[in-house]
Amino acid sequence: MCSAKVVILLAAVAVCYGAPNAKFSKHHLNIDGGNNAEIEDFPYVASVQYCPFACTHVCTALIINENWVLTGANCIASISAQKVDVGASDLTQDDKVTVDIEAEFIHPDAPSDGFGPNDLALLKLSQPLTFNDKVQAAKLPKQGQEFTGIANVTGFGNSKFSVRNDLRTARDVTLISNDDCTKAINEIFPDVYSNVDEKSNLCTLSKTANSCDGDLGGPLSQDGTVIGVVTWHLKPCGYRGIPTVYTKLSNFMDWIEKTITENK
Ligand SMILES: *[C@@H]1O[C@H](CO)[C@@H](O)[C@H](O)[C@H]1NC(C)=O
Repeated sequence: MCSAKVVILLAAVAVCYGAPNAKFSKHHLNIDGGNNAEIEDFPYVASVQYCPFACTHVCTALIINENWVLTGANCIASISAQKVDVGASDLTQDDKVTVDIEAEFIHPDAPSDGFGPNDLALLKLSQPLTFNDKVQAAKLPKQGQEFTGIANVTGFGNSKFSVRNDLRTARDVTLISNDDCTKAINEIFPDVYSNVDEKSNLCTLSKTANSCDGDLGGPLSQDGTVIGVVTWHLKPCGYRGIPTVYTKLSNFMDWIEKTITENK
């Protein structure tokens, strides 16, 4: 399924990273080992919805301002997402607010399937969001800012067996260097080529919780500032001690501001 980038271990365990097939990398499980989260604690979190018939969650996203949300390029590289849901801890409940997507702006240097360096896409909304205690813009880093220590990763990952679109967070994941990230991946999977990119990526490790499918596009936050957007992780999600990789927002602030300014 993921061509050269799938490793089969013990017959049933597939590791898919870097450039997984979009279908393979979504629609299963949710943040693995994490805690339930309330939207009031993460009011900048949104859901990107694909609506061929009924709408389904495809990726997590974050609110940049009243008119824009940010997600992974991988989330919309192979589908045409139509709507964004905001303001709900559980996407199956009626209290969410749904807004149409007017236009998509994939980072010009993102790989064609989105996975890899520069994995970001800005979505322009057809009407402005109304901010309240459940709907707020994310606080973003400054261009060039560096972060270490611990952070939280939050997302609306699906359940494997049912539509379980509730918000969950993996608390206290540890930021590690990209070298340590590559080492951690290769310790477990020696033959896997890791394309963790120094400029583009951040990496975290956790012994207790990991990002999982449906969390792609979701925020890595530290003390209220969103510092990363989930780009890829190794599968299956239940592996402890393997990294999750993010797009490092502090290296993309100029692109975000420029894209928004030029497309008002
Ligand atoms: C993670 O989230 C929890 C719950 O909202 C919060 O108390 C904690 O400060 C957050 N940790 C970091 C590092 O931002």
